[in-house]
Amino acid sequence: MRLLPVVVTLLLTAAVAYYIYTPLPDAIQEPWKLMLLDAGFRATMQVAFVKQWLGFGNYIQSIRSSTEGVEGVGVAVVGFDSGWGVKPGVRVSDTTFDGVSVRVYEPPAGGEGHLRRAVMYFHGGGWALGSAKKGSYDAIARLMSDELNAVVVSVEYRLYPEVRFPEPYLDCLSAAKFFLSPEALARYSVDPERVAVSGDSAGGNLAAAVAQQISTDESMSVKFSVQALIYPVLQALDFHTPSYLENQAMPILSRTLMVQFWLQYLDAEPSLLHLLLANNHSSLHQSAITPELRARLDWTVLLPPKYRKNFKPVVVETGSQGVVKEVPGLLDVRAAPLLAGPEVLGKCPRAYVLTCEYDVLRDDGLMYARRLQDAGVTVTNDHYDDGFHGCISFSFWPTHFKVGKRALRGYFSWLQKNL
Ligand SMILES: *[C@@H]1O[C@H](CO)[C@@H](O)[C@H](O)[C@H]1NC(C)=O
Repeated sequence: MRLLPVVVTLLLTAAVAYYIYTPLPDAIQEPWKLMLLDAGFRATMQVAFVKQWLGFGNYIQSIRSSTEGVEGVGVAVVGFDSGWGVKPGVRVSDTTFDGVSVRVYEPPAGGEGHLRRAVMYFHGGGWALGSAKKGSYDAIARLMSDELNAVVVSVEYRLYPEVRFPEPYLDCLSAAKFFLSPEALARYSVDPERVAVSGDSAGGNLAAAVAQQISTDESMSVKFSVQALIYPVLQALDFHTPSYLENQAMPILSRTLMVQFWLQYLDAEPSLLHLLLANNHSSLHQSAITPELRARLDWTVLLPPKYRKNFKPVVVETGSQGVVKEVPGLLDVRAAPLLAGPEVLGKCPRAYVLTCEYDVLRDDGLMYARRLQDAGVTVTNDHYDDGFHGCISFSFWPTHFKVGKRALRGYFSWLQKNL
């Protein structure tokens, strides 16, 4: 036996194992599956960054092109998953609402003379990735339409790098206003008293922001009756919340990646990354950030002790001047719905907020749930002690995360009872 091939094989195996292995908390079930998923993610990102560095266009676009061809997976995914008991028959059509692309899912039952409920859904992906029409988002919408016997409108809002804030938000808002018009509701036989707005991650951010805007718009005769937010992104002033620190290296959304998504969305210089990671952008010297505004995301008050633990807030004294002026989106409630005042929150619809323990965005969600409640809104907070960011999107073939399935079930069942 020659030694060299054996040594090379051993070294390669060790290198691959080292690349895949990530220490995970004990509470995470199916840890190896999550490590593999995360390694796949990291590899895709790294290849895309190298391609960008070599001059082959923006890294987001290469990630997209490397996942091309999965358009049909949603249908296949639901078909494979006999466990969900899906009946065929959801009618799917692509159209535009006030110029914004949407995919509409109509359940087989109802229609003529019988009004149905509806969900307007905004997908996640850091305002840069994901599509209403592909993979798990298509699958989730089909299931939701079938199980809730609801019309689901999944909005294909534009993404970075093609557009930045406020464009994605404005796309979602236009689609929402169009759908809530008496004509559109009648066209799809939707009960105006039973329309939800919902989304996950960056889509949860858009859902919360659109819900605030519609709720306070006197000219809208029909408003959303509920909002369902799945691990939403809600603020960009404090990247030192306990959940940002505890989960900074958790798959599949690291603290650095989330800050990167924010910089892209808000059209800020990528070089500001380290400054934001240090909370320098929200230093006490930034007079635009009033004490009142700070109180709206003060986790030392808004989080229960169970989540605060022994963490200390990081509030920088002097920091870096002018960032808030340079990046006005940081203080814009349409980008950071957690910054809205109680007078706005109090007008918002009944809320469902899903949070995961192992998620940098956990505390964003928990603080928003608490503030909505304080403003008089009825809130259900479903917290998954073994959940990780994005788990719902990985509840289908081929990953089938059990916690994702449970979370999706819980979300559907809340809508079943409350919409
Ligand atoms: C944060 O601000 C402090 C004080 O101005 C400065 O010394 C430090 O270099 C800044 N850190 C970053 C990462 O910008």
